[in-house]
Amino acid sequence: MSEAIQVHPEYNYKVIRQFAVMTVVWGIIGMAMGVFIAAQLYWPALNFDTPWLTFSRLRPLHTNAVIFAFGGCALFATSLYVVQRTSNVRLFSDKLATFTFWGWQAVIVLAVITLPMGLTSSKEYAELEWPIDILLALVWVSYIINFFGTMVIRKVSHIYVANWFFGAFMITVAVLHIANSMVIPVSLTKSYSIYAGAVDAMIQWWYGHNAVGFFLTAGFLGMMYYFVPKQAGRPVYSYRLSVVHFWALISLYIWAGPHHLHYTALPDWTQSLGMAMSIILFVPSWGGMINGIMTLSGAWHKLRTDPILRFLVVSLSFYGMSTFEGPMMAIKTVNALSHYTDWTVGHVHSGALGWVAMVSIGSIYHLIPVLFDKPRMYSIKLINVHFWFATVGVVLYIVAMWMSGVLQGLMWRAINDDGTLTYSFVESLEASKPFYFVRFLGGVLVVIGMLIMAYNVYRTIKSDSKEQAVEPEAQAV
Ligand code: HEM
Ligand code: HEM
Repeated sequence: MSEAIQVHPEYNYKVIRQFAVMTVVWGIIGMAMGVFIAAQLYWPALNFDTPWLTFSRLRPLHTNAVIFAFGGCALFATSLYVVQRTSNVRLFSDKLATFTFWGWQAVIVLAVITLPMGLTSSKEYAELEWPIDILLALVWVSYIINFFGTMVIRKVSHIYVANWFFGAFMITVAVLHIANSMVIPVSLTKSYSIYAGAVDAMIQWWYGHNAVGFFLTAGFLGMMYYFVPKQAGRPVYSYRLSVVHFWALISLYIWAGPHHLHYTALPDWTQSLGMAMSIILFVPSWGGMINGIMTLSGAWHKLRTDPILRFLVVSLSFYGMSTFEGPMMAIKTVNALSHYTDWTVGHVHSGALGWVAMVSIGSIYHLIPVLFDKPRMYSIKLINVHFWFATVGVVLYIVAMWMSGVLQGLMWRAINDDGTLTYSFVESLEASKPFYFVRFLGGVLVVIGMLIMAYNVYRTIKSDSKEQAVEPEAQAV
């Protein structure tokens, strides 16, 4: 891969390097925040009676840091890299790229300051107040112009499928963000949504679900369609399936939001429609997952020696798992059990940690040596150690949450013969407590893995080729 740097010196790798390194930095901060709030649920005294350290303020900081800072930086790095490589041309504008990078970091820093202060719009995954929302929209538009501008000046007539996924993710996120953030400001730090009641809830979950569908899925599928074939050294299993996958996924996702609002004031037919669309969504999701995994046909043996490929393939397995579980949870009768319980949190993290984080980590490991002109990562052994920490950590996390969630759901609905509740809410909390410890433990393992990654990335960047020659098994990659 490193020869490519000499062959194509015209690529803008600076902004990719910046985003790739910040992916690791924000990954550690966001996940450490996850571990801290997980610890607070087990040891509530950890809020130290300090308002800005309370769970309620740090939870949105965790979600913003992992989704938008960690996931966002990974998406910027990979999409801006892939569009240059597959279009055989430098980015449309270096100035816009610099603005996108610094603007995005500014949004994140503002989130880190305002969320613990309790300044929030109270809309989940869209908590930031209106001045930050405007900055975010400007940064996003600069990103879109640069990405599509690069495609316009491309030197390859074909548009590779990864770019379709990246493009759909960008445009949809822009529409969602602008529509859902429509507010009437009353001061610099306070605003009210222009929507009211059930309409507000519907707009919010149209946004929320498609933040999952496009930010946490379509963009990462773009990543998958470039980095899995690259790392496996094989073409995509079925290019035709990838195109069907694309159109089916983007046309179905947008209708599924009401499954977040089952049994609410939303009209019943809307809930049933959301449920039906969610069930159908299983098909393209699995089509894409199978397409990714089957890309390894003829290269399965590489899994034995290549932990980067292992990250990518295991991420696809978690993608398959969460997109089987999601449609199931969208069925109203199943949702009656799962909603409000830790089952949802387990589902979230099998998607977010298992799929999103692992596909990003695999892609960043692939990218770092290319971007810094090194033959390979400093230590393949350490990538392998990271892989096991991450995998065991994620499994501990989600299994604990599934068990806790189903337990909660069953305890809350248990009724005595005389119609009174069998268990009090506090009893269900007590029953969940051991699982909260296991989740905390899983999170600690995941964060240790991220710290190992940071060390490996640092040593790769600082290393010379002499150091790199000491680990012969790495040549297999
Ligand atoms: C070390 C890893 C992580 C730990 C320990 C962790 C922990 C937590 C905890 C304790 C919560 C609050 C659950 C509750 O309210 O009951 C949470 C929520 C959440 N986390 Fe994480 N997390 C981690 C990684 C991630 C990553 C990488 C992502 C996304 C890419 C993510 C996305 C979310 C989301 C979306 C929620 C909100 C879930 C909901 O509303 O149902 N987390 N996390
Ligand atoms: C076919 C695909 C999927 C479907 C149909 C689906 C469906 C669902 C359902 C029914 C819920 C529970 C809603 C509730 O009871 O409140 C949910 C929650 C959630 N899912 Fe999925 N899911 C899918 C894939 C994914 C993936 C791949 C991810 C992550 C990358 C993900 C992230 C989330 C998040 C973050 C929530 C929690 C939202 C909240 O309440 O804050 N989902 N999903």
